[in-house]
Amino acid sequence: MAESITITDNRTGESAEIPIVNGGVESSEWRKLLPGIWFSDPGIATTAATSSAITYLDGENGVLRYRGYPIEQLAEQSTFLEVAYLLVHGELPNTAQLDGWTDDITHHTYIHENFRKRVFDAFHYDAHPMGLLTSGVAGLSTFYPEAKDIEDPDNRRAQIVRLIAKMPTLAAAAFRFSKGLPFVYPDNELDYPSNFLHMMFQVGDTYEIDPALHRAMQILFILHADHEQNCSTTAARVVGSAHADPYSSIAAACAALYGPRHGGANEAVLKMLADIGSYDRVDDFIASVKAGEGRLMGFGHRVYKNYDPRARIIKGAAHDVFAVTGKNPLLDIALKLEEAALSDEYFISRKLYPNVDFYSGLIYQSLGFPTEIFTVLFAIGRTPGWLSHWDEMLEQSSRIARPRQLYIGADERTYVPITDR
Ligand code: CMC
Repeated sequence: MAESITITDNRTGESAEIPIVNGGVESSEWRKLLPGIWFSDPGIATTAATSSAITYLDGENGVLRYRGYPIEQLAEQSTFLEVAYLLVHGELPNTAQLDGWTDDITHHTYIHENFRKRVFDAFHYDAHPMGLLTSGVAGLSTFYPEAKDIEDPDNRRAQIVRLIAKMPTLAAAAFRFSKGLPFVYPDNELDYPSNFLHMMFQVGDTYEIDPALHRAMQILFILHADHEQNCSTTAARVVGSAHADPYSSIAAACAALYGPRHGGANEAVLKMLADIGSYDRVDDFIASVKAGEGRLMGFGHRVYKNYDPRARIIKGAAHDVFAVTGKNPLLDIALKLEEAALSDEYFISRKLYPNVDFYSGLIYQSLGFPTEIFTVLFAIGRTPGWLSHWDEMLEQSSRIARPRQLYIGADERTYVPITDR
């Protein structure tokens, strides 16, 4: 027998039976029975805003798959560009397809000279790179007005390639601007992570990267590549549902990612570890979190009520990086924090586990990235995910996002002139 629920309006005695399909019930049936009665769902925590074939996430059991492939297998065996292809196209590429995709992305890495000379130069010298990146991505829409034709799938694909290609260039330009360093042009001979590191760090001679650190970059980008309907993806979808161009939609995603509850948490974790400062102050810090004086950044997740599988992979990758760079001095504090939290009733009862941001900052720091660029790194990794969801949404000819509210304000009242107030 097909699964269903029955809802009854106790005011009238009328009922409706609604089938459960793919784990959801259609709100249209609810609306027919209860016009004008809205589902109260703060934080959109219980609403499936779409059906999606991109990422499967089981937060209770700590499972994450892109297009059906377990994140552990992709992190171990794949590359970021291959994963980007998988997310966008739905299938892993064959050799010819991957070569074509890589070539396409490699040859769209340049940004217009006006960006460097006029757009970035307009910012204050110590501008946060996420502010620069968000503005830069929004600004791209003015350079590619044809991107507004969002009905044409080929045109959409062209913008997807451009955005994946240009994010590292914009990110590195934002970083070098904020450091007062000269801009480094993309090198089309380099692969995606190497090219990004070259644009970030080259000063004088060719920047050489250790293979273990190169692999760590691939893994970090792969782990961040998608996470279904998270805050920034939802922001991109909401803006995209108004049929804005993809650059404006992805700029909205960048803005959402910037927040410390979301992608900004990796930066906040490093600040927290530095503030704690020493191993023997961990217990006091945990006590202050339990007293409500702040949060343990890099812990907790709306969907994971188990160990975030990405955090497990990153913890492993961290050791490979530290074998080359030497141990990050903040690692011991992080390990003790994790141990203390995982054995504490406060965190156990609330199912708070390390998330992707808990260990990623330690690796980024050991790779030489300054803290303020961490969220930018997250944004580069997440771009294929954002774009896959944007593309899928337009394929599904979705409706404009327009939630309802439960009005709790004043009843109608009469305007009082200011002299009588
Ligand atoms: N430290 C201490 N207490 C916490 C934490 C934390 N990190 N996270 C949640 N709680 C408590 C919270 O105070 C609440 O307790 P109570 O029931 O007594 O009021 C309970 O756990 C449930 O928290 P919530 O705020 O209702 O949970 P949420 O699903 O709305 O928020 C979250 C999820 C990720 C925003 C939150 O866990 C948090 O702020 N974590 C720290 C920031 C962070 O690491 N963010 C990165 C998330 S993963 C990467 C990404 O998505 O970008």
